[in-house]
Amino acid sequence: MNRLDNISLGKIVVIREKLMQAQKDGQKIYRFESGDPSFDVHPNVKSAVIKALEANKTHYIPNNGIPELREALATKLNTQNKIPVKASHVSITNGAMHALYVTYQCIIEEGDEVIVPDPMWTEAVENARLAGAKTIGIELKPETNYVYAAAEIEKAITKKTKVIFLNSPQNPTGAIIPVEELKKIADLAVKNNLWIVSDEAYEHILFDGGTHTSIASLIPTYEKIVSVFSYSKSYAMSGMRVGYFVSTHQLFNDRAAKLLRCTVNGINSVTQWGAIHAVKDTPQSWMDEMNAEYLKRRNLFLDSLKGQDILTPYVPKAAFYLWCRVKEGLDVEKLSEDLAQKGIGNAPGSCFGETKSSLQSIRLAFSCETQMIVEGARELNIFLKNYKQ
Ligand SMILES: Cc1ncc(COP(=O)(O)O)c(C=O)c1O
Repeated sequence: MNRLDNISLGKIVVIREKLMQAQKDGQKIYRFESGDPSFDVHPNVKSAVIKALEANKTHYIPNNGIPELREALATKLNTQNKIPVKASHVSITNGAMHALYVTYQCIIEEGDEVIVPDPMWTEAVENARLAGAKTIGIELKPETNYVYAAAEIEKAITKKTKVIFLNSPQNPTGAIIPVEELKKIADLAVKNNLWIVSDEAYEHILFDGGTHTSIASLIPTYEKIVSVFSYSKSYAMSGMRVGYFVSTHQLFNDRAAKLLRCTVNGINSVTQWGAIHAVKDTPQSWMDEMNAEYLKRRNLFLDSLKGQDILTPYVPKAAFYLWCRVKEGLDVEKLSEDLAQKGIGNAPGSCFGETKSSLQSIRLAFSCETQMIVEGARELNIFLKNYKQ
């Protein structure tokens, strides 16, 4: 059997395709299944891409990114994330997805164990499996606000454990790991000589007092750590496919350079020139405006869940997902299909894991346009108030 035969194509992708077909057939649909920011790319980025094209910056570039972008990101990592790194520690990838792929391929040997949260955005887990790892899920529970707890991680450590994977702010729960817990996770990794892979794709999607801390900033001299970042959410550049990872581990970076050469051999050159401007000149006010809009959308969703008892939401201060517990006794897959039948996109918990916490939940994304949330949330409220199975 080929390794890829054990990897799914992504259940959310299947749901999305069904909804798109329904839309083509004339049905009104609400795109709550997908985490794609509705905002346009900032004009500074657009003009930098156009200028790069006009200046014919269209030739082969170094496989781990143009030096100017790696420099700009090293500055961002030092100042914003408080991770003390040099440009030579940063590699540019085709989105965070590709960064995770490269990271796991560079670390994992067949049969290694990777500890992951459950629920979790599936691709982060499947990229570990694709590299030959066995993933061990730690159930994130509503009663503890979905915090990924060091004490639970510790219980799962075996002789085969190679990596602790974490994602904060988290997809799908929107939970932020508190700094005290991050410190405990960091200590655990150091004590057991484990790798940390930290997916920080939602580092900038914060509202309602939510803050972000990079775990690497807490253990600045520990080398077995890879921090992964994305342009997709922070700068609404999902289709432009820019991500990056940073590590000070020499062997890891040597291996990564080889894999980058053998996979993408450097991502699209003009996109990289645009990406420099996203980190250098994007006004903070623009990002604040996006976050204010996400907060508005979240609250519209929360209002729509009043007066019904089918869904109990966790109130996130980050990312753009509303993770809801489904009333005991209801079949979540059927609920998901019934919602989709009404044009209300969603992702059932089985897309994100195998524990009860995952399976008895559903995710609604609020990254689509506010007007779509206004209308869709109204439909959702009517649907839930009348729902019977
Ligand atoms: C936690 C997490 N990491 C990474 C990604 C992928 O980001 P990119 O578009 O940069 O590949 C996503 C996308 O949804 C995500 O939710």
